[in-house]
Amino acid sequence: MSTYLVTGCAGFIGSRLTRNLLETGHRVIGVDALTDYYAPAAKRYNLAPLEASTSFRLVEADLSEADLGSLLEGCDGIYHLAAQPGVRGSWGDSFGVYVRDNVLATQRVFEAAVTAGRRVVYASSSSVYGNADRYPTTESTPCRPISPYGVTKRCCEELASAYADSRGLAAIGLRYFTVYGPGQRMGGGASGVLPIFAGLLGLLLLIGSLAATWLREGR
Ligand SMILES: NC(=O)c1ccc[n+]([C@@H]2O[C@H](COP(=O)([O-])OP(=O)(O)OC[C@H]3O[C@@H](n4cnc5c(N)ncnc54)[C@H](O)[C@@H]3O)[C@@H](O)[C@H]2O)c1
Repeated sequence: MSTYLVTGCAGFIGSRLTRNLLETGHRVIGVDALTDYYAPAAKRYNLAPLEASTSFRLVEADLSEADLGSLLEGCDGIYHLAAQPGVRGSWGDSFGVYVRDNVLATQRVFEAAVTAGRRVVYASSSSVYGNADRYPTTESTPCRPISPYGVTKRCCEELASAYADSRGLAAIGLRYFTVYGPGQRMGGGASGVLPIFAGLLGLLLLIGSLAATWLREGR
């Protein structure tokens, strides 16, 4: 049994990962600031089943200022998923939030990981590619982000390289494409389209069922 620090544990992916770690017999210290990018109530909903486990401890804290060193005591590794997501919202005045929750938070996680000698798996994004020049897109595709969000995610990757080369950080970044499933975030890219498809499918089934009833009654 190991103990992991999971940042963004109240979010869509972080809560699923935490659940999985708990179900496979591990302990989790979960950190989340419960930001209001979408309803914090949805994050509380994600947390409820996790908090039922004695192997889970929630720390409500902002990674851009929390004492990460003490959080890492007794942890075997770090899954860093916390971030301010969303491509469209990253333009304009809100960019500061992206810099804080993506770049600064990640730099602080890497710094603490190096100091504690712990490995990090962190969430990057397909947004680092921008308009990729080939599909399917592979890791060797040049990165040319076309949104401020993508730039912050690419910056996190560069930070990981700098910390790896100069300070010995062991980190792996995962460039998630659109992640979907139960509890997925609404809004942004195809993540908003999938529920619409599901809704349309439901509507078609309803129309089909009404039509079948109408046909039966006409016999
Ligand atoms: N969902 C996707 O399709 C997708 C695609 C590409 C990359 N990603 C990346 O995967 C990760 C998880 O995405 P998600 O969909 O679960 O997002 P999410 O918004 O559901 O979860 C992120 C969590 O991080 C927390 N958080 C934000 N800033 C914080 C801070 N400064 N300190 C502590 N907690 C903070 C939020 O409160 C939230 O609960 C993110 O890094 C995101 O950029 C997601």
